[in-house]
Amino acid sequence: MEQDLSRIGISLPEHLLEKFDRIIEKRGYASRSEGIRDAIRSYIRYYEWMSEVEGERVGTVSMVYDHTHRGLVDTLTDVQHEFSGIIRSSIHFHIDHDTCMEVLLLRGEGKDVKAVAERIMTIKGVKHVKLTTIRPGEEI
Ligand code: NI
Repeated sequence: MEQDLSRIGISLPEHLLEKFDRIIEKRGYASRSEGIRDAIRSYIRYYEWMSEVEGERVGTVSMVYDHTHRGLVDTLTDVQHEFSGIIRSSIHFHIDHDTCMEVLLLRGEGKDVKAVAERIMTIKGVKHVKLTTIRPGEEI
């Protein structure tokens, strides 16, 4: 099948590209472009999945961040207080000198649960955010 391909140019930190190249080599991609296409598909799937998170949910938001990043801890605390109605608990784990992992446990309307994850994703210095949710009472 013929597909119209568009060319794009992107700038990214060298270490990120090196890491990406190592992964696509290990996974056997024919080219960097194929790896990037696959990564973009995953990103779109994840976003679409997040868009469907609604109704009563329980879930977790896990994150990894650099606590030495100026203002980050204050911003994170503000966000957590803003959503204190649905954040039931949290776990904090100091990974190394600068890096923290935190997991929030939530229960509430899916849109709000998702809003917590989306807000945290935009905070500078946060390196990784992952949202998982289930519907309470749903058979697994
Ligand atoms: Ni810590």
